[in-house]
Amino acid sequence: MKNQTVLILDFGGQYKQLIARRVRELGVYSEIKPGAMSIDEIKAIDPIGIIFTGGPNSVYADASPKCDKEVLELGIPVLGICYGMQLMTYLLGGTVTSCTFSEYGRIDTAVEPDSLFFCGLDSDQVTLMSHTDYVSVLPEGFVNTAHTRNCPNAAAENLEKKLFMTQFHPEVENTRNGMTMLRNFLYNACGATGDYTMEDYIDRQVAAVRAQVGNKKVILGLSGGVDSSVCAALLSKAIGDRLVCIYVDHGFMRKNETAQICDVFGNMDLQFVCVHAEDRFLAQVAGVTEPEEKRKRIGAEFPKVFYDEAVKYADAAFLAQGTIYPDVIESGEGGDVIKSHHNVGGLPKDIQFAGVVEPLRGLFKDEVRKVGALLGLPANLVNRQPFPGPGLAIRIVGEITREKLDSLRDADAILRAEIEKAGCKADQYFAVLTNTHSVGVMGDHRTYGYVCALRAVCTNDFMTCEYAHLPHAVLAKISSRITNEVPGINRVVFDITDKPPATIEWE
Ligand code: XMP
Repeated sequence: MKNQTVLILDFGGQYKQLIARRVRELGVYSEIKPGAMSIDEIKAIDPIGIIFTGGPNSVYADASPKCDKEVLELGIPVLGICYGMQLMTYLLGGTVTSCTFSEYGRIDTAVEPDSLFFCGLDSDQVTLMSHTDYVSVLPEGFVNTAHTRNCPNAAAENLEKKLFMTQFHPEVENTRNGMTMLRNFLYNACGATGDYTMEDYIDRQVAAVRAQVGNKKVILGLSGGVDSSVCAALLSKAIGDRLVCIYVDHGFMRKNETAQICDVFGNMDLQFVCVHAEDRFLAQVAGVTEPEEKRKRIGAEFPKVFYDEAVKYADAAFLAQGTIYPDVIESGEGGDVIKSHHNVGGLPKDIQFAGVVEPLRGLFKDEVRKVGALLGLPANLVNRQPFPGPGLAIRIVGEITREKLDSLRDADAILRAEIEKAGCKADQYFAVLTNTHSVGVMGDHRTYGYVCALRAVCTNDFMTCEYAHLPHAVLAKISSRITNEVPGINRVVFDITDKPPATIEWE
C-alpha cells in the first residue's frame, strides 16, 4: 500500500534531513527532492503536502535556486521555511528585503493562536531564527501570523490557497513547539492520517535493496557497532544468504563481545565470517607505545585483513556500508564519498565492487536503534555505546600485551556490570589500564600492580562531555571487585576530567 507522501523540496538548507525526520516522527512518509523538480514529476509523486527547505542564498541572486511558480498553484498545501518563505514571497509578488538587524538564535516570537499553523499554542513562543533577509511585504492573500522584535513577518498563511510560511525553523529543537506547528501543517492543512511507521521504512529499504542488487552478492564489514549491525539485519531480511558479513576480530574487543556477535549473526539468514586476526594485530602493535602509532598500525592492518577475506566473495558483488545521516554530513553533504571507516577504508583498488549499498543513509542514530529493535536485534546491541575502532588497544596506556588485554577486559566488565546494576546515568563508561605501577598490600604480601582508571561521562554529542558523578558506593564496589578479582591490578582511580580539556578516551 502506498503511504501518503510529503515532498521536501531542497533549496540548499542544512536542515533538510531534520525536516524529513520530523515528518517521519509525525507519522508521515517524506521524500527529499531537488527544488527544481518538474511539475510532472511532482504530480507523479502525488504528495499530500510540500515543504520548501531553507537555503543560504538571497532570492534576488541570479544563481539562487528556484522552483516553478506552478508548484504553488497545484492546490497542494505548501510550507515554506526560511529561504522557502522568501522564495514563496518572491514567486507570488511580495517583497524580500535585507534585514537591518539580522536574527540568529532563539528569538521571542509572538504568534497568532487562532491561525491554523499555531493552533493550540500560546501567543508567546520561542523560535530559532537564522536569517539576513526577511519578507517586508507579504504576497496578496496572506495574513501575518507571527512577528518578532526585528522581523514583522515571522510567519504568514493563506488559508484559501493552503500556503504557509515561516521565517524561523520549526524543525529544530530550539523552536520549542515546532513539532506542534508541523503537526498542524501535516494534519490540519495536508490531511495527513499518520499512516507511516518505521516498519514501512524497513519495507521500503528492503524493496530498494532488492531492486538495486538484483541477484548479486553483498559484502558488509561488520564491526559489531550499532550501524553495521542494523545494516546487516536489514540486508539479511532483503537478500538472505546472498549477504556476506565479514567480522574481523582484532583481539581488542571487550569481554565476550566477539562471542555475542558470532552468536547473533551466526544464527541469522546470512553468511557470517568471523576472521580471528588477533595474532596479526598483536604483532603489528608489539612494543608500540605511542597512541597515534597504535591507531595508524591498527588502521592500516584492518583493510588488509578484510581484503584477504572479502576477495573470496568480491566478484561483482556490492559493498554495503552502515553509513547513517551524520556520517553523510561529516563526509561532505551530497557527496558519494565512501565512508572512510577503518574496516573498509583503504581497500586495494583491485577489488571491483558493483556498487555501494547504504540502506541507513537517511536515518539519525536513534532511528537506527529503532530499526534494529524492530528487526529483532538484542537490546544490548542496539543500545551499544560508541566503541573506538582500535578498541581496547587505545585504552591500554603503553605497550599492549595479551595479559594486559585480559586484565582490562575483566576490569571493564566489572565496571559495566556495576554501573548497569546501579542504574547510574552515564552515556559512555569504560575502564582504562594505565601504565603506572603502584605499591599495595594483599594479605601479608607487598604487591606492585597496575593502576586501573575508571571513566564515565555524560554527553549528548560526544564532542564535549562532563564526567559522570557516579555515587561513591558504586565506585567503592567497582574498586573492591576489580582489586579482588583482577590479577595484576592493585589500585583503582576515577577520572574526574571533563572534555575539554581531556578527551573521552585516554589515547
Ligand atoms: P574522544 O576520545 O575523541 O572520543 O573524546 C569521542 C568519541 O569518539 C569515540 N572514539 C572513536 N570512535 N574510532 C571510533 O569509531 C576511533 O578511533 C575513536 N576514537 C574515539 C570515543 O569512544 C568517544 O565516544
